[in-house]
Amino acid sequence: MKIEGLAAKQAGVALEPYTFEVEKPGGYECIIKVLACGICHSDIHMMNNDFGMSKYPLVPGHEVVGEVVEIGPEVTHLKKGDRVGVGWQRSSCLQCRDCLRGNENLCDRNEALIVTGAGGFANYLSADSRFAFPIPEGIETNAAGPLLCGGITVYAALRYAGMTSGQEIGIIGVGGLGHMAVQFASKLGNRVTVFTTSEDKADFAGKLGAKEAIVVKKGEKPPAPSRPLNILLSTVPGAIDWEAYVEFLDSDGTFSIVGLPEEPLTIPLFSLLMKRRRIMSSPIGGRGMIMEMLSVAQEFGIEPMVEVFPMEAANEAIEKVRNNEVRYRAVLTVDR
Ligand SMILES: NC(=O)c1ccc[n+]([C@@H]2O[C@H](COP(=O)([O-])OP(=O)(O)OC[C@H]3O[C@@H](n4cnc5c(N)ncnc54)[C@H](OP(=O)(O)O)[C@@H]3O)[C@@H](O)[C@H]2O)c1
Ligand SMILES: [Zn+2]
Ligand SMILES: [Zn+2]
Repeated sequence: MKIEGLAAKQAGVALEPYTFEVEKPGGYECIIKVLACGICHSDIHMMNNDFGMSKYPLVPGHEVVGEVVEIGPEVTHLKKGDRVGVGWQRSSCLQCRDCLRGNENLCDRNEALIVTGAGGFANYLSADSRFAFPIPEGIETNAAGPLLCGGITVYAALRYAGMTSGQEIGIIGVGGLGHMAVQFASKLGNRVTVFTTSEDKADFAGKLGAKEAIVVKKGEKPPAPSRPLNILLSTVPGAIDWEAYVEFLDSDGTFSIVGLPEEPLTIPLFSLLMKRRRIMSSPIGGRGMIMEMLSVAQEFGIEPMVEVFPMEAANEAIEKVRNNEVRYRAVLTVDR
């Protein structure tokens, strides 16, 4: 079968039309007709080869929502016509200790959609059905994609940092990931403070559920929040003032970092030691956590706010993401 997509032919260039062939689905594979696909900042890191693992031509897109149009002979949990979502992870071994514990995202043999395959900036996606998740009713097709990468990443990072309810939670960067983190944390009963470099986002943060919004000026130290934080989540794709932010944590507080700066972190040990603080990071989430996140999103009305672009306008949308002009997640849609 022929798939018409958009691909970067080398690092740092715009996307161009790109046609490629996929086999008829065997085993657990399926073919999904793409309806919408979010643009995550990781697509941009991959287009730039920031992680040093990009292979070109590279078809980005790993927040895919679509309709199942073909299934392999072993697939029993999906049928033609089902609405499903596929995120960053494409497959794992399903047999190692991590996989058996439900941490498929930690599997040494995990594969990512846009690292070893083609992503969702295309009319069809060839996927492993065991990593395609039914989208619950009530979650709009255009808004569902961002939950599959951005949503699960912040939900899992907050959960593993110990988020319950009644806590003080800080979110740094109110972009695609950050604006979902504010919703998950606040709707589950926590008091949220956001740190943003964008004045308009500080004004809007209350509508997402934040109680406090702090504007961080370029080159200046972030101002302290009014209360110490139990969890602080960074979603910024670059270096921030780690030393200053650690001091905003309460005793036993956790700094959870999911944004991907290129440089190593520099944090003095004593600012951790004196208050028994922790630092953690985490990649996306396992399949069980994705199912949980989708039902939390459905039950608590967590809705990514999306700016929709036709698939043909992908380069324009990517430029807006690069310039931090999107409010809050860009999504490419296909005529339907
Ligand atoms: N750990 C994982 O598994 C995982 C999964 C998905 C994504 N990620 C990573 O998480 C990061 C955020 O992704 P995203 O899709 O949320 O990105 P995004 O939509 O571009 O949002 C990032 C936000 O960070 C803030 N920011 C501050 N300084 C910035 C700078 N120099 N450049 C760009 N933004 C800056 C901006 O918020 P304000 O305007 O509020 O300041 C911006 O909106 C990326 O590094 C991405 O690769 C990690
Ligand atoms: Zn992503
Ligand atoms: Zn495994």
